[in-house]
Amino acid sequence: MCGIVACIINDKAAPVLLECIRRLEYRGYDSVGLATLSGDIYIKKGEGKINDVHKRLDLTDIPGNMGIAHVRWATHGLPTSVNAHPQTDCKNRIALVHNGIIENYRELKTQLKDEGHIFTSETDTEILAHLIEKYMKIGNSLEVATRLATKDIKGSYAIAVISKDEPNKIIGVRKESPLIVGAGEKESFIASDVPAILKHTKNVIYLNDNEMVILSPDGVIIKDIDGNTLKNNINIIEWTSDMAEKGGFKHFMLKEIHEQPDVIKNTLMDFPEIKKVVAKFSKFKRICFIACGTSFHASIIGKYLFETLLGIPTDVMLSSEFIFSQGALDKNTLVILITQSGETADTLKALKIANKKSETLAIVNVLGSTITREADHIIYTRAGPEIGVASTKTYVSQLVSIYMLVIAMSENNKLLTELHKVPDYIKQVLEDEDHIIEIAKKYKDANDFFFIGRGFSYPTALEGALKLKEITYIHGEGYAAGELKHGPIALIDDNIPVLAIVPPGKSHDKTLSNIEEVKARGAKIISVGSSTDEILKSESHDIMGLEEDISEILSPIPYVVPLQLLSYYISVERGIDPDKPKNLAKCVTVE
Ligand code: AGP
Repeated sequence: MCGIVACIINDKAAPVLLECIRRLEYRGYDSVGLATLSGDIYIKKGEGKINDVHKRLDLTDIPGNMGIAHVRWATHGLPTSVNAHPQTDCKNRIALVHNGIIENYRELKTQLKDEGHIFTSETDTEILAHLIEKYMKIGNSLEVATRLATKDIKGSYAIAVISKDEPNKIIGVRKESPLIVGAGEKESFIASDVPAILKHTKNVIYLNDNEMVILSPDGVIIKDIDGNTLKNNINIIEWTSDMAEKGGFKHFMLKEIHEQPDVIKNTLMDFPEIKKVVAKFSKFKRICFIACGTSFHASIIGKYLFETLLGIPTDVMLSSEFIFSQGALDKNTLVILITQSGETADTLKALKIANKKSETLAIVNVLGSTITREADHIIYTRAGPEIGVASTKTYVSQLVSIYMLVIAMSENNKLLTELHKVPDYIKQVLEDEDHIIEIAKKYKDANDFFFIGRGFSYPTALEGALKLKEITYIHGEGYAAGELKHGPIALIDDNIPVLAIVPPGKSHDKTLSNIEEVKARGAKIISVGSSTDEILKSESHDIMGLEEDISEILSPIPYVVPLQLLSYYISVERGIDPDKPKNLAKCVTVE
């Protein structure tokens, strides 16, 4: 987690650093800090979200045309001003920002303290500043000292470092934490993610593990960790800076929910590419999906699809559990890893294990992310940058990619034709927004919700509950509707709204029975179903209805949208910022 930015430009750096780091605030918002270099090192940093800290400190009020910046998601040490980055050495001659974790920080700290270094923070990051200081003190350049320091540490890091002793230079290094380089005209950048610098350049170099970048007014030089110069592989990014703006919506999350019809259309355009990828897949006898969070819910739908339409036995594993139980991976198994960011540490770890035994396919949204360099096959979702911490448009794009994969493998053209109609179904849901706002107002004070569904609606129930928990802080329990009676029904009473996902189809009547069961115990029913479903209407206290009937198999895509909107509006009603819910970060780069 955490976001880092660095730049050397022709203008005052602090306002540009602030603007860039704002675009990374989705990565962490416990504290923020900037350091610029202009003869001396100038630092401004504080605890809290960027706007609040900026109001208190005026983060742009420091001189110089180069500098580094950071937003923090705390791992080591409380989210205080002292622990905010940049961190410095003993004499404030070196300043450094870091994303990642230094695993051997305790022993290094003891060692450095014994050598006389004075520490001021509780962070693991400060170790690096002191290590670089130590190596510069014995005559090494900033570049060499940084290289030597990184060789001493164990763990993951993306860092940017400046030193008063070498003005006009910024060093960045990456190992297992994302870092990209922006090679603009006479302006150079380092950042954790592409959206941070899109306004300034679309020329991007993706650093690999154990590579470093040296920014100077003359441009960028990429080297390996032994100091050998590498070729600058510049990629031209198609995303525009507008894509990372709110575009008139109150929050990124709302904008991203509204973008879903277009996202689906864009993702569908890749069907010919997917057909090429699956041409190599007929040999696989088994599938294993691996993912976390929302991407895990997309994976469960993947399992149902592979087993229903192709009859291929399919496992679904949480990335963080995969290291403990890997089933029977072999060369007949295709391992599919789903991740919007392509940087989730648990998923990357699982990929490393899977790569040793099976072929791997990554379904990913972020171009050039780590997973795209390590999986055997790649399918890109076309959601564009997702800034809201809660995944919405990337989830539906993952679903569309999985459907296309299964359609291409099963040659089910009827389903492909229907898939093309989904953007219109979603537009109808979006037209019902005012009605969903009313429902949000009615239930905003509930303490617990249940989300129930069967078959293809079961993962939708899980996803609805996750959205609710993430951005409203209300407890939401997602359950297979048929499983309620095996225990959780004991919790049901008239204080608990039950959100039932009931598309027309095979699961419909059985889920209706489950609705009856919870109603008999006092629960209020909010349902998502067809607006022509009179029985469902009569059983529900409130219904979020879809005008058109869609086949049950495709229902997970449009049916998740009312749940996203409901959570969004409950969050707003409760005075929460849904784009930056507490304790969360968009991209989880620690295990
Ligand atoms: C979803 O709203 C969450 N932000 C989270 O569960 C997320 O889906 C999970 O961390 C996985 O992220 P990834 O898709 O980038 O790997």
